[in-house]
Amino acid sequence: MRGKLVVGNWKMNGGLAANAALLAALVTGWRVGNLARPGRQMAVCVPFPYLAQARDVLAGSPIAWGAQDLSMHGAGAHTGDVSGSMVADFGGRFVIVGHSERRAQHAETDAVVAEKAKAALLTGLTAIACVGETLAEREAGEWQRVVGRQFDAIADALGADLPLAVLAYEPVWAIGTGRTATPGQAQEVHEFLRQRLVKAGAPDVMVLYGGSVKAANAAALFAQADVDGGLVGGASLDATEFLAIAGA
Ligand code: PGA
Repeated sequence: MRGKLVVGNWKMNGGLAANAALLAALVTGWRVGNLARPGRQMAVCVPFPYLAQARDVLAGSPIAWGAQDLSMHGAGAHTGDVSGSMVADFGGRFVIVGHSERRAQHAETDAVVAEKAKAALLTGLTAIACVGETLAEREAGEWQRVVGRQFDAIADALGADLPLAVLAYEPVWAIGTGRTATPGQAQEVHEFLRQRLVKAGAPDVMVLYGGSVKAANAAALFAQADVDGGLVGGASLDATEFLAIAGA
């Protein structure tokens, strides 16, 4: 039983006042909308400075919180970095690793992403490890090679702990573009990942889909056999939209 997980990735958005309104609306909306179902979970991954705010507003609610990145190191001379144990200190449960924006804007390699996934698990966080091909790679017929390589790096690093992670398939061409993968395209890649997970002895790892998920397309995506929920960027900043996705 894998259940369904919907995670908001706020990216570098927010402010104290806007967050307070959004988080309160999520807490109320979850309750009033009667969204609680066995196996259904919701979380938000916020910028580091707002972890304390997320903890204060969400503590005691069914909504979990976490971060969007972490250091691969435990502590020490790493100016500007934030460790997994610091995120855990604030009650964080999840951390996104290997988002395509980190890979592209911070030159994070497969090896770095794998080390970060390991660091997350070591500090008791659940890594949401992202994989996904660019448009050029898809058009060149290379998505299996790219997604397979990204997956293998994570799976090899985590070894027997792979079952503790969550995966997210996020085709780069669908992120923030309004161009969502069709449910069939998503399922094809998720099934490919599921086969790898089965081979790696971790058949029950959740595989989220991310890339322009909205209330209007969530139900069709989540109805796919190997899609276990979503990693939601832009639409997670709108409480009504995000709650509708979580309820899909
Ligand atoms: P999007 O972003 O929903 O705005 O496309 C998803 C993500 O980058 O995680």
